[in-house]
Amino acid sequence: MSMQSVAPPAIQFTPPKRNSLTHIPGDEGWPIIGKTLEVLADPKGHIERNAARYGSVYRSHMFGETSIVLLGPEANELVMFDQAKLFSSELGWGRILGLLFPRGLMLLDFEEHRLHRRALSVAFKSAPMKSYLVELDKGIARRVAQWRAKPGDMLLYPAMKQLTLDLAATSFLGADIGPEVEEINRAFVDMVAAAVAPIRKPLPGTQMSRGVKGRKRIIAYFSEQIPLRRAKSSKGSGGDDLFSQLCQATHEDGGLLSTQDIIDHMSFLMMAAHDTLTSSLTSFIGELAAHPEWQQKLRDEVFALGLATDAATSFDHLEAMPLTEMAFKEALRLKPPVPSMPRRAIRDFSFMGYAIPGGTMVGVNPLFTHHMPAIWPEPDTFDPQRFTEDAQRNRHRFAWVPFGGGAHMCLGLHFAYMQAKCFARHFLQNISVSLEPGYKPEWQMWPIPKPRDGLRVTVKPV
Ligand code: HEM
Repeated sequence: MSMQSVAPPAIQFTPPKRNSLTHIPGDEGWPIIGKTLEVLADPKGHIERNAARYGSVYRSHMFGETSIVLLGPEANELVMFDQAKLFSSELGWGRILGLLFPRGLMLLDFEEHRLHRRALSVAFKSAPMKSYLVELDKGIARRVAQWRAKPGDMLLYPAMKQLTLDLAATSFLGADIGPEVEEINRAFVDMVAAAVAPIRKPLPGTQMSRGVKGRKRIIAYFSEQIPLRRAKSSKGSGGDDLFSQLCQATHEDGGLLSTQDIIDHMSFLMMAAHDTLTSSLTSFIGELAAHPEWQQKLRDEVFALGLATDAATSFDHLEAMPLTEMAFKEALRLKPPVPSMPRRAIRDFSFMGYAIPGGTMVGVNPLFTHHMPAIWPEPDTFDPQRFTEDAQRNRHRFAWVPFGGGAHMCLGLHFAYMQAKCFARHFLQNISVSLEPGYKPEWQMWPIPKPRDGLRVTVKPV
């Protein structure tokens, strides 16, 4: 086992005394539940009302603890870029993800995080990414052909969820995973659903208890597979999937990642990719259904690639789809899959004249930043032109942060663009999508945006 896989002691912190935060304006709501229900019901409205009343630094009470919300691009830069190493991601996300996804990359901090991120980044280099694209391309082409063969109404969100899950099985775990795939997928879906379940203890019958059971199954699967995958690689017949890549990944000292490290990183990676891709692909296609003129522009871009329906998609093709990328970015602006990000300050700091003690839970909010009218005129309008090179040039670099920023910036962002553009290529080449006149799907925006009714669309062959 590599020296670097030995966990260092967790960062120590003392929660601040309640009266050390009362100089910050805000409203903590009801005892114990605080503002949790209000946030769950309408996160965007809640935060916009607070911003109007208190400004861009305010005090709230969520999930049993007082926290300070910092709003706007400057706050995002302070917390995400974290030049002074003031903010712990582990002590922020740990409360939400720690039970099911302990020691995932986002739950590590500072030097230990740097070492693990470096080890994992081999799986996101150009050569492995090209192999993932081959699998994604085949899987997407097959599924789009099935949708095309059944014109009529469909529910977009569950269809995307199933597709993302099936694609992850091949690109993350390998094409020859075999009959266990259904069981592994189910275990994994239970874990992901439990990560955002309101009851946080694994009481019998709860989503959390199904999640904990799912984790046991996933651990057993990975533990059994790691030696098999390593043996295959040593014979030169290793797979190109992400899991096989991690089985070969090493730390800076040359030691392989430990079995436990691989289990933790794989579980976390699959979770980090799953709901975010499902949410963003649904909102992307939902916007194209609502904006036929943009759908046609993107379809023209796809047809200009000159590809036969059954031709494979390459990196070069994806490069030649700038409008598609702009439209996807705009969908991520409107509905960022990670609408807020928690951290815990590990030392005292100040922001906008407010002194904030070490130990305080701090939250930043892409959803709010992405709808600030001063940065994004008519913020609720879908307009991919906001992402031309010219339009982006003068914008604060932390004004658009769907993938976060700084040391914890999404490691899978190129994977996400690749999957979105590959999907757009096949979908738009084969299918035209529309909404019933007058239908405006309602979205639940937190913890991960999803349409409340699944988003009804009508599909027909192009
Ligand atoms: C549209 C899709 C996606 C969005 C919007 C998204 C968003 C994010 C955000 C906001 C963070 C940082 C959170 C923070 O700093 O608190 C993050 C981290 C991460 N994401 Fe993504 N993600 C997406 C897809 C993916 C995919 C496809 C993968 C893997 C293939 C992935 C893997 C990760 C990992 C490993 C981290 C942790 C990075 C670190 O802590 O160093 N994500 N993602």
